[in-house]
Amino acid sequence: MSAKRLQGRTALITGAGSGIGQGIAELFAAEGARVALLDLDEAKGLLTAARIRDAGGEALFIRADVSVEAEVRGAVDAIVGAYGGIDHLVNNAGIVLVKPLEECTEAEWDQVMAVNLKSIFLTVKHTIRLLKQSANATIVNIGSVSSFVGQGHTPSYVASKGAVMMLTKALALDYARAGIRVNCICPGITDTPLFRFHVSKTANPKATLESRAARVPLGRFLTPRDIAKAALYLSTDDSSGITGIAHLVDAGYLAAAEWDNRQI
Ligand SMILES: NC(=O)c1ccc[n+]([C@@H]2O[C@H](COP(=O)([O-])OP(=O)(O)OC[C@H]3O[C@@H](n4cnc5c(N)ncnc54)[C@H](O)[C@@H]3O)[C@@H](O)[C@H]2O)c1
Repeated sequence: MSAKRLQGRTALITGAGSGIGQGIAELFAAEGARVALLDLDEAKGLLTAARIRDAGGEALFIRADVSVEAEVRGAVDAIVGAYGGIDHLVNNAGIVLVKPLEECTEAEWDQVMAVNLKSIFLTVKHTIRLLKQSANATIVNIGSVSSFVGQGHTPSYVASKGAVMMLTKALALDYARAGIRVNCICPGITDTPLFRFHVSKTANPKATLESRAARVPLGRFLTPRDIAKAALYLSTDDSSGITGIAHLVDAGYLAAAEWDNRQI
């Protein structure tokens, strides 16, 4: 049996109670990491931690709003108290607001920016001294295909995800000589509760699902595990020469400006 790739390491994963964050937490724990799960949703966070422990892993859930500095600072202190340090940071928590710009309130705009972008400022600010002490430090930020291209009716989301990609590059440069690699994963359509919620709000959810899947060259939605495998790659020595990249995991979505699967 091959050695576990994150044995002896500690990983902090935000938004780990659901979807992609949950998938990353489960895979990192299966690879031997102690995982600290941050989420606003206590019930989901506790359930994820319990699932990980049931599978033989080590997990600590901390309820925290990643857009609030005092809560991020408190969560990091709790992780240090429990595990002593942090080797891997995964900034995954994110929200989507589906509204044309003129209908967004100032508070709604600020909220999307705070959860999707300011959270990375806060987690990095409060973990960087710990990451600098690790011989294996990495940061992975979750962007989106919307880090590269626009999409309709989500201006604050698209702006925040574009900024996540550029913040990744800036941090990669600033911490390169400290030995901390910083990369971004840009998922395509991933089958998570967030995605299902937005599909449920459309006029014909079944037709929406079919048309969204038909637009994807690989012909299927991504799974949280697809994204988790990329996060594992960018958090281990397998990606030792890589920092500052935006790594698409999109099932071919952005390879095509248009896609009609009847053309072949
Ligand atoms: N699902 C997709 O198709 C898709 C595509 C591209 C990018 N993404 C990105 O992937 C990330 C995860 O998305 P998902 O689909 O798994 O969503 P999800 O809603 O299933 O999970 C997100 C988790 O983040 C938590 N969260 C939200 N706000 C928080 C806050 N302020 N503090 C702490 N936790 C908070 C939620 O409680 C939830 O558990 C997001 O950044 C999203 O933008 C998703």
